[in-house]
Amino acid sequence: MIQEPVIDLATRDDAALIARMSRTEIEYGLPWSWTGSRVAQAMRDPETNVAVVRDSEALAAFGIMRYRETTAHLSLLAVRASRRRAGLGSAVLFWLEHVARTAGIAAIRLEARSDNPAALAFYEHHGYATFARRTGMYFGRVDGHRLEKILRRTE
Ligand SMILES: CC(C)(COP(=O)(O)OP(=O)(O)OC[C@H]1O[C@@H](n2cnc3c(N)ncnc32)[C@H](O)[C@@H]1OP(=O)(O)O)[C@@H](O)C(=O)NCCC(=O)NCCS
Repeated sequence: MIQEPVIDLATRDDAALIARMSRTEIEYGLPWSWTGSRVAQAMRDPETNVAVVRDSEALAAFGIMRYRETTAHLSLLAVRASRRRAGLGSAVLFWLEHVARTAGIAAIRLEARSDNPAALAFYEHHGYATFARRTGMYFGRVDGHRLEKILRRTE
């Protein structure tokens, strides 16, 4: 039987682990922007959810989503390399999207590196579509895609 992952809100102890995973899995080759203090700040923000999946090796996956009035922004999402392709990323994304739907949010937006085909395939699989591409989106060094998923039509 496949066990559903347990998704929790992050606590202070998770901040450094999330920041480290962001640095190695997402921000590689770029200046480190999601430091521990920035992650901790996101946890304190009432409009942001930081969700985690823990396992015996500490942090298996995490996602950070900021909710505004009609749109939400997925800031970060990552799964530890040894736990990928087993539905964990999808489970964290569904959890964050469920909050957005419950809050009546119309669309979720995110950015992804153009040199990250796995992430682009993952988001496409989940109904996100590229609406813009920017050369040098990340510190002028790495190109990026802006993606959006419509949750409900507003007109
Ligand atoms: C992108 C990421 C979060 C996906 O997490 P995951 O737990 O491996 O994804 P899932 O197992 O839920 O995958 C769901 C579907 O997405 C697609 N997908 C996921 N990884 C893929 C890959 N490497 N190549 C192609 N398609 C992929 C597939 O359609 C997959 O379904 P399938 O396994 O039945 O074929 C993970 O690869 C990761 O952490 N990457 C490093 C960090 C990152 O790039 N984060 C996103 C940008 S912020």
